[in-house]
Amino acid sequence: MTRDTRESVTDGAQPPSQGFGEPRRSSPDPATSGGGASRPPEDDETAVRLDHVSKAFGPLKVLDDVSFEISKGKAFCLLGRSGTGKSVTLRHIVGLVRPDRGRVFIEGRDITTLKARELSDVRKHMGFLFQNAALFDSMTVGDNVAFPMRRHTDWSDSEIRDRAKKKLADVGLENDFDKMPGDLSGGMKKRAGLARAMALDPTILLVDEPSAGLDPITAGEIDELLVKTKRTGTTLAVVTHNIPSARVIGDEFAVLHEGHMIARGSLQDLDASDDPLVKAFMRSHGGG
Ligand SMILES: Nc1ncnc2c1ncn2[C@@H]1O[C@H](COP(=O)(O)OP(=O)(O)OP(=O)(O)O)[C@@H](O)[C@H]1O
Ligand SMILES: [Mg+2]
Repeated sequence: MTRDTRESVTDGAQPPSQGFGEPRRSSPDPATSGGGASRPPEDDETAVRLDHVSKAFGPLKVLDDVSFEISKGKAFCLLGRSGTGKSVTLRHIVGLVRPDRGRVFIEGRDITTLKARELSDVRKHMGFLFQNAALFDSMTVGDNVAFPMRRHTDWSDSEIRDRAKKKLADVGLENDFDKMPGDLSGGMKKRAGLARAMALDPTILLVDEPSAGLDPITAGEIDELLVKTKRTGTTLAVVTHNIPSARVIGDEFAVLHEGHMIARGSLQDLDASDDPLVKAFMRSHGGG
């Protein structure tokens, strides 16, 4: 399966159908048969846990026995080369992809066996910025940001508009409320996607390459916004190639390589790693 096929099915042209921008499922992805009640294995401090997750798409093994956890209120940065499974990992966290083996826990709840409606309830508390922003092309930018509020709350129209404006202002798009996504630059789309992901003040915010395509000043502003969001108690999962930005945002780090987690730990742990790939990553100064 090529990247293009995948993107067009899950990320791209298809508008989101959930508040945080959930695209259609790429495949039936049958639930793993868990059987019986799910047992939360973690303490109250864990927001997200992947437990021995493996996933293949046809013959392509993407994740192989991947385990990690993200502490509540912390920022977890997932690093790794292109095509190594970072976006697929984020999709597991929001339940858009189900593992072939292993389990995904959100605040102690096993989401791998949840039915669509229960999963939708869990997702209400999660915001997701897709790698390509995935805005509804037929709605204004303001309506894109308002979408999750209209879908998931009973707030009045004026309340929703005000809040959407505030969320757009947070990402520097206060003057772009009435524009169509097609009239935005790539970086502006990304910021609008971030505003939409944050529309409902999620407890868990997942962002896939938030600074890709942004100029360094805007990228720095997005970093600041993410740090500010973290300070309010939100848990962050950030996929990024931008190591300076990861250094600013991150508390916990992991490096994926060819479906395996090759390093995990604090910034100090990764900086001290002997692994050549981890070293190369940690020494880089740029990237999207
Ligand atoms: N729904 C899908 N069907 C088939 N293959 C898929 C699907 N989703 C992802 N893949 C494949 O899984 C592999 C990992 O993809 P993923 O998007 O997670 O990479 P990534 O680490 O995010 O890369 P990048 O840094 O370029 O964004 C790729 O080979 C991709 O083509
Ligand atoms: Mg990706």
